[in-house]
Amino acid sequence: MVRHIAILGSTGSIGRNALRVIDALGPQYQIVALSAHSNAELLAAQARRYKPEFVAVTNADYAEQLAELVSDLDVEILAGPDALIEIAQLQEVDIVLTAVVGAAGLPAVLAAARCGKQLAIANKEPFVIAGELLRKEAKENGGTILPVDSEHSAIFQAMQSGRREEVNKIILTASGGPFRRASAEDIRNVTLEQALSHPVWDMGPKITVDSATMMNKAFEIIEARWLFDMPVEKIQVLIHPESIVHSLVEFVDGSVIAQLGTPDMCLPIQYALTYPARVAGIAKHLRLEEIRKLTFERPDLETFRALSLGYEVARTGGTAAAVFNAANEAAVQEFLAGRIKFVNIVELVEHCLSKHDVKTNVSLEELLEADAWARREARAGVKCKVKNAKGNS
Ligand SMILES: NC(=O)c1ccc[n+]([C@@H]2O[C@H](COP(=O)([O-])OP(=O)(O)OC[C@H]3O[C@@H](n4cnc5c(N)ncnc54)[C@H](OP(=O)(O)O)[C@@H]3O)[C@@H](O)[C@H]2O)c1
Repeated sequence: MVRHIAILGSTGSIGRNALRVIDALGPQYQIVALSAHSNAELLAAQARRYKPEFVAVTNADYAEQLAELVSDLDVEILAGPDALIEIAQLQEVDIVLTAVVGAAGLPAVLAAARCGKQLAIANKEPFVIAGELLRKEAKENGGTILPVDSEHSAIFQAMQSGRREEVNKIILTASGGPFRRASAEDIRNVTLEQALSHPVWDMGPKITVDSATMMNKAFEIIEARWLFDMPVEKIQVLIHPESIVHSLVEFVDGSVIAQLGTPDMCLPIQYALTYPARVAGIAKHLRLEEIRKLTFERPDLETFRALSLGYEVARTGGTAAAVFNAANEAAVQEFLAGRIKFVNIVELVEHCLSKHDVKTNVSLEELLEADAWARREARAGVKCKVKNAKGNS
C-alpha cells in the first residue's frame, strides 16, 4: 500500500534526514507536500527531486522567490503560517511528519490530530504546550501519534514488551550535552560556539542550545508525561554520554527493557513512518563490541536548573508549560542573536515562571495567551539584562 507523506519543515535537520529515509524506503512512500520557513532555494531543490503536489513557505516574504524557482514545475505554492494547517489537513495525506521548530508547529499538529492522521512527531514543543489536548484529539478522531524523538521512540518500542499498567517507570537517557562536566562557574562563561557544538548529535541550532542547557531533556519529561500518560514521579532522567541506549522502561517485575542503536535520527524517523513494520534502512547498525562500555549517572540538578524546572512544570501543568516553552524560545532566539549570555537563558525562563499566575483546566486560547505573555515578559527581561550589562561595562 502506498503511503502519502507531508513533511512540515523539510529543510531542517529532521526534514532532510526524513527525505534520506524516504529515498531508501522506495516508491511505497510518496511525498505529497513539503514546507520551509524561508529557505526557498532548498525547498525548490527538494520539490524538483520529490515532485510534491504542494510546497509551502511559512514566511510569506519568500513566496515570490519560491514561485520563480519552481515556475517550470507542476506544484501548488502555499504561503504564510496557515499553509501548514492546509497541508496537515490534505485528504490525500496519510502521514504528517512534523519537523518544524518551536511552538509555530502547534496549529498544524492540532489540525492533523483532528483529521485523524498518522502523526510522526519530531516537533516536541507543541506537545510540551498542549500535549493533553493533542492526545485527546488524536484519540477521538482515530489518529495515531508516533514519536520521532529518539528517547520517546525507544520508550514506545520498549512499552510493547508489557501492558501499560505493568510499567513501573520510564528512564529517559540524556547525553549530557557539551557541558556535562562543567561547573556553575564554567557555565557562566559559555560562548555561542561552545553551546552549538554538541558532542554526539548533529541537529538544528535551537535544539542544540536546548540540549546544552538541558532544557531539551526538561521538555522531554513533559513530552513523555503526555505521550505515555505517565505521572511525572514515574519519569527518571539518567545521563548516558555514549547515547547508545536511547531510553528504558522498567516493569513491575523489575525487568528493564531498553532500545539501543547508533545515535542516528534516521532510525526513529523510519520507525515512525513504517510502524508497525520494521524494514532494512540506512541507519548504521550497532557494534556493541566497538562501544565496549555504556555508562549512566544521575544528572546534576543544581548546575542544570532547567531539569528541576522541567519537573516542577510537569507537575504543575496548565499554563505553566506554555510559559516554560515560550520563555525559552524567546531567550534562545536572543542568545543565538548574541544579545544575551548562555546563562541568561534559564534565568529568563525561571523569571517568567515566577511571575506567572498558573491557570489549570485551560483552553487552547488560554495556552496561546500564556505563550504570548511569556514571550513579551522574556523580551522585557532581555532589555533589562542588556541595560544592566551596558551599565556594568
Ligand atoms: N534535529 C534533531 O536531531 C532532533 C531530534 C529530536 C527532536 N527534534 C525536534 O524536531 C524539531 C525540528 O528540529 P531540527 O533540528 O530539524 O530544526 P531545524 O534544523 O532548525 O529545522 C527547522 C525546520 O522548521 C522550519 N521553520 C523554522 N521556523 C519556522 C516557523 N516559524 N514556522 C514554520 N516552520 C519553521 C525551518 O525552515 P527554514 O529551513 O526555511 O528555516 C526548517 O525546515 C524541533 O522541535 C526539535 O526539538 C530534532
